[in-house]
Amino acid sequence: MNELDWDDHADWWQREFTDGVDPEYVEQIIPLAVHHLAGAERVLDVGTGEGQIARAVCREVGAEVVGVDPTASLLDLAHQRAGGPRYLRAESDGLPLANASVDAVVVCLVFEHVDNLSESLSEVARVLRPGGRFLLFLNHPLLQTPGSALIVDHMVDPAETYWRLGPYLPGAETVEEVQKDVFVRFVHRPLSAYLNEMTRAGLRLVHMDEPAPPPGFLARSGVAERAVAAATPRLLLLVAERSSSGVEDRGTE
Ligand SMILES: C[S@@+](CC[C@H](N)C(=O)[O-])C[C@H]1O[C@@H](n2cnc3c(N)ncnc32)[C@H](O)[C@@H]1O
Repeated sequence: MNELDWDDHADWWQREFTDGVDPEYVEQIIPLAVHHLAGAERVLDVGTGEGQIARAVCREVGAEVVGVDPTASLLDLAHQRAGGPRYLRAESDGLPLANASVDAVVVCLVFEHVDNLSESLSEVARVLRPGGRFLLFLNHPLLQTPGSALIVDHMVDPAETYWRLGPYLPGAETVEEVQKDVFVRFVHRPLSAYLNEMTRAGLRLVHMDEPAPPPGFLARSGVAERAVAAATPRLLLLVAERSSSGVEDRGTE
């Protein structure tokens, strides 16, 4: 198993998180994406996977959507699931689109797996038109650091339930066994690393969401843990606008 290769995770990802089986996507992520992309006519979904966000944006926003992803097996599934988007095979640091060619870019749970954040954000800024919108969904960089976990301490009476944080400030590469025999690589960065790189790339923060986990997710946690789980965001959404200053011309499409 090569934890760097998303082809190895494709079955796990599509079985556990797509096609309506995951409450966080159904109740939270997809509705937030649709809400914040309202009005966009041309949308790029970077790291589209099997295309669940791209399809929803086609269907519910009525936009023309391009999804890019380097993982062949996920793109194959995206083509099978159809629903309107067009797909291209590419990585986030080399987007095969022309300068200022889209109204909005969405990146959902992708940049916490890539090394080259700076180049990837420069590419997002390059393909966005001035004033265009950027949606960045992340596993919450503070509250979901490597080593974070819900702890129920039975050594005290009454038992204490709390959210344990892992080390936040140091950047870290980790490989986590997210399910038996499924190893996924994460690149942890503090929130300031994301915001400062976005600012450098000309992407200005205009809105931020830290939603509580949705009811369908909380229903899966035990009653004793539910209050702590409900007070601990798993997701962070940063919404930014591309400034009007110029970017380098790559002219690839
Ligand atoms: C957690 S999945 C998210 C998929 C999709 N965005 C969604 O929300 O359903 C992470 C995705 O990132 C893609 N990915 C990994 N490295 C990438 C890179 N360097 N550039 C673009 N996408 C990448 C993987 O192929 C995978 O589809």
